[in-house]
Amino acid sequence: MIAEAKAHIESRAGRREPRVAVVLGSGLGAFAAELSDRLEIPYGEIPGWPSSTAVGHAGRLILGKLGPLEVAVMAGRVHLYEGYTPRQVAFGVRVLGLLGVRSIVFTNAAGGINLSLQRGGLVLISDHLNLQGSNPLAGPNDDQLGPRFPDMSEAYSKEYRRIALETARELGIGLTEGVYAALLGPSYETPAEIRYLRAIGADVVGMSTVPEVIAANHMGIRVLGISCVTNMAAGVLPQKIHHEEVLETGAMVRDTLVRFLTTLLPRL
Ligand code: HPA
Repeated sequence: MIAEAKAHIESRAGRREPRVAVVLGSGLGAFAAELSDRLEIPYGEIPGWPSSTAVGHAGRLILGKLGPLEVAVMAGRVHLYEGYTPRQVAFGVRVLGLLGVRSIVFTNAAGGINLSLQRGGLVLISDHLNLQGSNPLAGPNDDQLGPRFPDMSEAYSKEYRRIALETARELGIGLTEGVYAALLGPSYETPAEIRYLRAIGADVVGMSTVPEVIAANHMGIRVLGISCVTNMAAGVLPQKIHHEEVLETGAMVRDTLVRFLTTLLPRL
């Protein structure tokens, strides 16, 4: 199925050969508009590609150029909490890998666990905790894609993180490193769960990214991850968490994220 999707995209893409891709999370879709010479393909038109149901997830693959650089953008992703299998969640990343993408920047919306974080801040993911109870590599291994037991000791490229921190410093954008904990969702966490996550070393929490990062590492694709702290996690502030707040904060940081990605991508 991933081969069919690849063939379909190639038949429409002409000579485009992106080596770099960006995955845009909840409310973070604005970057796609920066690309010139755009080809937009709704996920529904690509054989086997799962389409998202979540509000704020547009659901299209965009191929285009950032200056001279060929870039692929996944605007919208699917999540395990929607009922998709881990393999479906990893589908897009695998197709990008087959198309020749060697570097992917994942963005997501996340709750801030570390008390030094603030709503609207950006966190560079240094590592993750997979607490989703699943793995996209479970089941028969496709040896064409990667090894049975892939190493995850540098799931988020150290070199890319160095470049990202330097770029953020140059642009005057606040960026701190942190560990991303992925939970299944779709309910937000309880305050007790957030205390537990803090105790085991998580700085931010979300419901995405980890299956895709595992699939990317499996294929030898280098990964960078950026979380937008759209809200403080449950129990940190005396208020409830709403999806609307998540989307609103995404809109607040939109321009900063676009500025950051625009400078960062050509350096990867
Ligand atoms: N928890 C889990 N996922 C999230 C959150 C949160 O607080 N905010 C945005 N995505």
